[in-house]
Amino acid sequence: MKNVVNFLEMKKSGEPIVMMTAYDYPSAHLAEQQQIEMILVGDSLGMVVLGYESTVSVTLEDMIHHAKAVRRGAPNTFVVVDMPFGTYHVSTEQAVQNAIQLFQQTNANAIKLEGAGELLPAIERIVATGIPVVGHLGLQPQSAEVLGGYKVQGKTTESAKRLVDDAKALVKAGVCAIVFECIPKQLGEILREQVSVPIIGIGAGVDVDGQVLVYHDLVGYGDHRVPKFVEKFSDVHAVMSTGIAAYRDGVKARTFPSDAQSFTMNEQQLDGLYG
Ligand code: KIV
Ligand code: NA
Repeated sequence: MKNVVNFLEMKKSGEPIVMMTAYDYPSAHLAEQQQIEMILVGDSLGMVVLGYESTVSVTLEDMIHHAKAVRRGAPNTFVVVDMPFGTYHVSTEQAVQNAIQLFQQTNANAIKLEGAGELLPAIERIVATGIPVVGHLGLQPQSAEVLGGYKVQGKTTESAKRLVDDAKALVKAGVCAIVFECIPKQLGEILREQVSVPIIGIGAGVDVDGQVLVYHDLVGYGDHRVPKFVEKFSDVHAVMSTGIAAYRDGVKARTFPSDAQSFTMNEQQLDGLYG
């Protein structure tokens, strides 16, 4: 399993870090089989798996439940688990307590939370506890209501400067990597150069230290609308739809199950059945 030191070496040598989300045993197993280097149990769980409108409805218990399954599916991959909405803002004590619970019960390698500023003391305390922390800046989906929706961040000189400062403050607080979501690609490159920990981009252009995408988006699982920064590398929805439709038609036409999928008893036993 790659660790935080390996990821830092990859940044220095310029080898891109590949990260994707996973939410259950089979998705984690696939990620590990394909040598994905970091798995994120994202709170995007709320939308892509649980059918909520946003990530705000996701609870610590939801994250623990799914992260445990991911760990079983990918025992040898670096797993990061999101702290969900409302579990790290009330106080530093609450943040540390919830981070410990999440880390301990899921056997993850790191936790991730959105933001900087007022959260810096909590991040320092969590890291001091021995829990690696991944930051998340740029578009912060948990704060989408405050930001006025899902929009590109850091497009002006001032806001871009603020993001660079926030990233540096996160590094000072001890984060081992930072996810940057939905920023101009030029800012992504500046962040890679000016920030000493790996910058993992999602909608941050190609000149960052690594990329992360949501599992369902990248394999085309589901027919939901995907953001501009997504490439669907396969169309799993079409493959699954074809399978389900063929099953339905087979049942209706009585071509399924055929003898190949059926069990039989011999003639003698059959005769005995009718006396
Ligand atoms: O929850 C999630 O999937 C994420 C990624 C989009 C980075 O935080
Ligand atoms: Na998230």
